[in-house]
Amino acid sequence: MRSKILAANWKMNKKASDIEGFFDDFFGRLAHLNLHKVDSLELLFAVPSPLIETARRVVEGKPVGIAAQTLSEHESGAFTGEISASMLADLGVRDTLIGHSERRQYFAETNNQVADKAERSLMHGIRPIVCVGETLENRKNNEMQTIIAEQLDSLFKKLAEWESVVVAYEPVWAIGTGVTASAGEAQEVHSFIRGQIASRYGVHAANRAPIIYGGSVKPSNISELLQQKDIDGALVGGASLSPVDFASLVTNAIG
Ligand code: PGA
Repeated sequence: MRSKILAANWKMNKKASDIEGFFDDFFGRLAHLNLHKVDSLELLFAVPSPLIETARRVVEGKPVGIAAQTLSEHESGAFTGEISASMLADLGVRDTLIGHSERRQYFAETNNQVADKAERSLMHGIRPIVCVGETLENRKNNEMQTIIAEQLDSLFKKLAEWESVVVAYEPVWAIGTGVTASAGEAQEVHSFIRGQIASRYGVHAANRAPIIYGGSVKPSNISELLQQKDIDGALVGGASLSPVDFASLVTNAIG
């Protein structure tokens, strides 16, 4: 059985001074659940890089991981403004988002670059959560599967094994729009993604691979999404910024 992953994506929000208050409130609301005992659920917070150290200190001892939102595909050197996998690993980071559609759209990240980033993160023991997904235009033109297959193919070319890779299916039209893919629509794409992984790495690897959904996930739709056979969790933007909403989302996810 694959365990579930709930990953918050704070994007470019919050400051170090917000962290303690957020987690006090968040954990307070979940006190009745005894998160340590819920071993079928993995909780992650992908926070802006300058907040990583504070966040790690504040959640110490709690069953919560602090993840990065991106990293450089380069090992080190003259890349002003970039953050390397080794710097993150040195801070104790074990997970990172890679190729979020906002990175692809606003920072022109290509499929190849995303694959290089995934490879680099794995070299440093950081699990990549690789985001894939189609735009509304792709969907209207019936190119959804082609686009997602292309995004996956660059990874397939780079990675000899499919170990410790999480795919986040995030239809671009559902991100931050309040429009969620229906649970059925999402399941269909997740099953397609699992099939692609199976055809490259075999059924065993595909069955173990976590595939999570992102795009306007909220407390009200998390349960139905998680009931789908191939949906192994969620990547949550807007609803993860409020401790009230995110705690209620986690509560509903545990069901
Ligand atoms: P959203 O963002 O939940 O606000 O739609 C999800 C994401 O971009 O990861």
